[in-house]
Amino acid sequence: MKTKNKNTFSAKESKRLKRLLARNATEKPTKAVKSRPQDRSQALAARSRARLSYSRFRAQNEFLYSHSSSEANDFFSEDSFREYHAVYEKIADKWPQKPINHTLTSETSGRLVVADIGCGSRAQLRDAFPSHFVHSFDLVADSPHVTAADMCSLPLDADSCDVAVFCLSLMATNLAHALSEANRVLKAGARLIIVEVASRFQPITEQQFARQMTQHFGFKLREQRHLSSDNFFVFFEFQKTAKCSQSLPQITLKSCAFKKR
Ligand SMILES: C[S@@+](CC[C@H](N)C(=O)[O-])C[C@H]1O[C@@H](n2cnc3c(N)ncnc32)[C@H](O)[C@@H]1O
Repeated sequence: MKTKNKNTFSAKESKRLKRLLARNATEKPTKAVKSRPQDRSQALAARSRARLSYSRFRAQNEFLYSHSSSEANDFFSEDSFREYHAVYEKIADKWPQKPINHTLTSETSGRLVVADIGCGSRAQLRDAFPSHFVHSFDLVADSPHVTAADMCSLPLDADSCDVAVFCLSLMATNLAHALSEANRVLKAGARLIIVEVASRFQPITEQQFARQMTQHFGFKLREQRHLSSDNFFVFFEFQKTAKCSQSLPQITLKSCAFKKR
């Protein structure tokens, strides 16, 4: 599928981002920091390491939001993926609620086949719901229960899953491709659950997104709500009613930018 996306970086911008990441990866705390009295210098060195990790995290995030899923697939090494997730988890720990905890609920009965797509470094849903059969996918398999896969090309048979989950993982520029892949692996009548940062729904609004899902991606909207009073996260539950249309519209969500520190 060919899509043109405003978030897509030019080759020049893409090179700049890769250079920045490569430079940050080799940067060490400065000598000036080491030459201070020991306790102070250790604290400064730790702060400087944390700042570097955070600035790398921001650049990695920017890369994922501005490139296609196949470019993202080539992008992470195991080490950079691990570092990205260490920072992400620190940030997520400060959120009053974890969005992943709102995807499947314990009332969900039966043994469901679930695809957790863009699961992160750990198979969180698999651990939380041992009674279901949860496939956990991410670009890098950093734990024994995670399978490395691009969300646009999942190693699953068509019509094989009861639930597919994208929790904060609709990052690539070719989202239409990822959503049509979710449709492919879901059984007729199965559920698609999406949790995202609500401010990403620009220029397309949440309502327009839900409409596109109905008109082109073969899903009916079952539920849409914000997860907290500050409206930070939005939850969608869709049901597969048909296969995707032959020609799909481009879906563009705004990048989720993290503040400079
Ligand atoms: C912000 S993290 C969220 C992780 C987890 N779902 C959670 O809620 O804690 C987004 C994850 O999506 C993954 N991701 C982004 N693009 C992907 C792609 N094309 N295929 C598979 N995973 C992808 C990233 O590697 C990252 O681990």
